[in-house]
Amino acid sequence: MLGLKLPTDPRWVNIVEKNIHEILTDHAFCEQKATSTAISFIVLFPEYTDLVQEMTALVKEEISHFKMVHDKIIARGWTLGRDRKDEYVNKLMTFFPKGGSRVDFMVNKLLYAALIEARSCERFRLLSEEINDAELAEFYRNLMASEANHYTMFLGFARKYGKREEVDKKWQDLLNFEAEIMKELGTKETMHG
Ligand SMILES: [Fe+2]
Ligand SMILES: [Fe+2]
Repeated sequence: MLGLKLPTDPRWVNIVEKNIHEILTDHAFCEQKATSTAISFIVLFPEYTDLVQEMTALVKEEISHFKMVHDKIIARGWTLGRDRKDEYVNKLMTFFPKGGSRVDFMVNKLLYAALIEARSCERFRLLSEEINDAELAEFYRNLMASEANHYTMFLGFARKYGKREEVDKKWQDLLNFEAEIMKELGTKETMHG
């Protein structure tokens, strides 16, 4: 349903379980980055009224996710750590060449966002099924549905404003590229590591 070409090795959850503080810190910053991305769509593409409306709602939702994760960190007696580099996202975002039209730029940015939501959703699902922590399993089960909706929304906007065939081709190419990146990952206690 998410279109991903390579599932995460479930052993990634065993790595995560050993360092819950680390995964929660990394996850909190994923939600912060999702919020920042939603704001950046408003700043970059203000004339797309329906996109601006959806992004405004998304800012609220993603920052509320940030708070939910932050609350979990506090409840466990910890403090939010420093932001981590997201190697996965940095690599993924090298895929589309720079330049092109403004619509191309928007479509590419929408496709990156859709894919990051899809992979996050897959990781949340795996955590909800495999993590040896009932409270977090439940937490990730609830978040999984939100991220699946975001994935559909971003892909929907890309298809609405780009040429359908071109967008679908780009999406398939990006999925293949992402699967290559994922072959090297699944070894760290970060959300996309
Ligand atoms: Fe989120
Ligand atoms: Fe999201």
